[in-house]
Amino acid sequence: MARARVTVVGAGFVGAATAQRIVEKNLADVVLTDIVEGMPQGKALDIMESAPVEGFDAKISGTNDYKDTAGSDVIVITAGLARKPGMTREDLISKNAAIVSDVVDQVIKYSPQSILVIVSNPLDIMTYLAQKRSGFPQRRVFGMAGVLDSARMAYFIAEELKVKPSEVNAVVLGGHGDLMVPVPRFCTVRGKSITEQIPPARLEAINQRTRDGGAEIVKLLKTGSAYYAPSSSVVKMLEAILNDRKTALPVCAYLNGEYGLKDVYCGVPVILGRSGVIQIVELALNEKEKEALHASVAGVKKSCRELDSLMKQTA
Ligand code: NAI
Ligand code: 2OP
Repeated sequence: MARARVTVVGAGFVGAATAQRIVEKNLADVVLTDIVEGMPQGKALDIMESAPVEGFDAKISGTNDYKDTAGSDVIVITAGLARKPGMTREDLISKNAAIVSDVVDQVIKYSPQSILVIVSNPLDIMTYLAQKRSGFPQRRVFGMAGVLDSARMAYFIAEELKVKPSEVNAVVLGGHGDLMVPVPRFCTVRGKSITEQIPPARLEAINQRTRDGGAEIVKLLKTGSAYYAPSSSVVKMLEAILNDRKTALPVCAYLNGEYGLKDVYCGVPVILGRSGVIQIVELALNEKEKEALHASVAGVKKSCRELDSLMKQTA
């Protein structure tokens, strides 16, 4: 069977790490593209030269020409600016909206049947924009953030309870911003909710560290944002899509009434497979959790409206 083809747009920290992880797992052949001339070609060649050492057969090529991305099954969009210390994800909105709009116009021309996985920030807003701009069915346009935010929370829980990270299942919902919603009641270790295992004050500290997870890395790196865990998270989603796993993963997905929310993208668990988002999984949230989710999504909606008027002005 022919290997799947994935285009990664943006050959920066997240894009290059994502490309590397894809080929090292033999998950797909990769086309890596960027506006900087020679950079995706150089990184692709460097990664290919690791193939004899790593033992993978998948191929990666670099390009500055969208024609070379034709016929991709999945397009991962990481193009755009990353946060610097003191910046919120929302500060990136206007610059990254222009970049993401341009990228979407190009990729859909050459891969009209593809699935778009958005990574560029502010994530929920860029995913909304990519769907509107592409006109693709909502099930084929979604964003990566929930796998990352849940992984961060799972790691903090594992540290707290001194268990292996793989023994933890964490749930984070809502927008990928300061109001994201960790839901400890649904987080489990060895099948038991962590609310039965961690005292409330420690739980709240874990929730807050999760919300601040991206900023904690930005503060340490000083010149950019996280990319190791983000690239792992993208590839987890690609495995579910390309292998048609139909497993539940937290994804920035389009809601049309689920959780009482309409015409908005935000993080919720979904069943992900070869056709994209197959189903939204509705957790039985209590009133407090619902309130927190709606507050987080209100912020996303406000930014989407601002983006709509920004796009009208520049159209
Ligand atoms: P980076 O600066 O290392 O890479 C971005 C790349 O995009 C650069 O190589 C740049 O040349 C390229 N680019 C800019 N305009 C372009 C265009 N029009 N067409 C093609 N390529 C273009 O940044 P990094 O760290 O890779 O982050 C990328 C984006 O992903 C940022 O917006 C960041 O905030 C976001 N991000 C989102 C995460 C999430 O959980 N959703 C996690 C980590 C990062
Ligand atoms: C993160 O959470 C910057 O959104 C990115 O690391």
